[in-house]
Amino acid sequence: KNKNIVVIGSYLVALVMDTDRIPLTGETVLARNFRQTHGGKGSNQAVQAARLGANTSFVGRIGKDAFGESFIKLCELENVNAEFVFQSTDMPTGAGFIICDELGFNVITIDIAAINQFSRKDIDTALSLITDNSIVLLQLEIPLDTALYAAEKAKQKGAIVILNPAPAQNLMGYDLSMIDILTPNETEAKICAGLVNDAAYSDEEVAQQLLSLGCKNILVTLGEKGSFLCNSSVAMLIPSISVNEVIDTTGAGDAFNAGLAVALSEGKIIMEAAQFANVVGGLSVTKSDTIPSYHFRAQVQEYMDRSAHV
Ligand code: RIB
Ligand code: NA
Repeated sequence: KNKNIVVIGSYLVALVMDTDRIPLTGETVLARNFRQTHGGKGSNQAVQAARLGANTSFVGRIGKDAFGESFIKLCELENVNAEFVFQSTDMPTGAGFIICDELGFNVITIDIAAINQFSRKDIDTALSLITDNSIVLLQLEIPLDTALYAAEKAKQKGAIVILNPAPAQNLMGYDLSMIDILTPNETEAKICAGLVNDAAYSDEEVAQQLLSLGCKNILVTLGEKGSFLCNSSVAMLIPSISVNEVIDTTGAGDAFNAGLAVALSEGKIIMEAAQFANVVGGLSVTKSDTIPSYHFRAQVQEYMDRSAHV
């Protein structure tokens, strides 16, 4: 029987406007295309996992406001179990303000708001979702203490634990022995490993440093090149698909992590799961935005069948 997927992470509402140029300090600039969209790495990953057909739950914290309500609606629409989405009454739903200019530059501010109150106690409350037949998927857009506590509890229950360390922070000095797979991109891998960004370390050296924290596998996402798997017995590149046109890479990492979790939930070994994840992430960059660009299982399957015949 397929494993269930429990994504423990962030939901953020994005309030977006387009302008000709980024305003200077103190300046008001007329904008257009004001829109409210769904963001947050946790909810992105949960929606993508559900679209791939997995039994998916999201655990997180939002405010008791209209933005929070729109997220609950999203979960209903996307078949994501939101039974353990906690609501703060004294803090709003986490939000991002995004201004995009004509040249493709942007300025973004994010206040995770209610997520600051996402605690160990919330994890304890939601623990009934997790068994030895679960995959638990975590990111770092929630307090680090909560994420690591959740990982530890999930491992005690016998779940497979994936940590997508994004946004990255230095993880040196932490015991990550409860993590089965750590999935940074190249930049995040260096930050997690405490290695300065511009220094010339190979992917393998960085991965070895991260393995020393105790996690079993490091799977570094490399964009169009695919992903790099490193554990105690292999260090290998898992090539990606080539897509014709890259439209928008925002949230591609989230699609990748969801694909990885879903393939593992169906019993695939890590190398095959990474291949599937490469396809899911790769397809997401062919359309703009995050959730609107995420493909459903049938579409992913169709793509894979088609490319097997050429
Ligand atoms: O990974 C992409 C996501 O990170 C976006 O949806 C944005 O909300 C940020 O949290
Ligand atoms: Na996209």
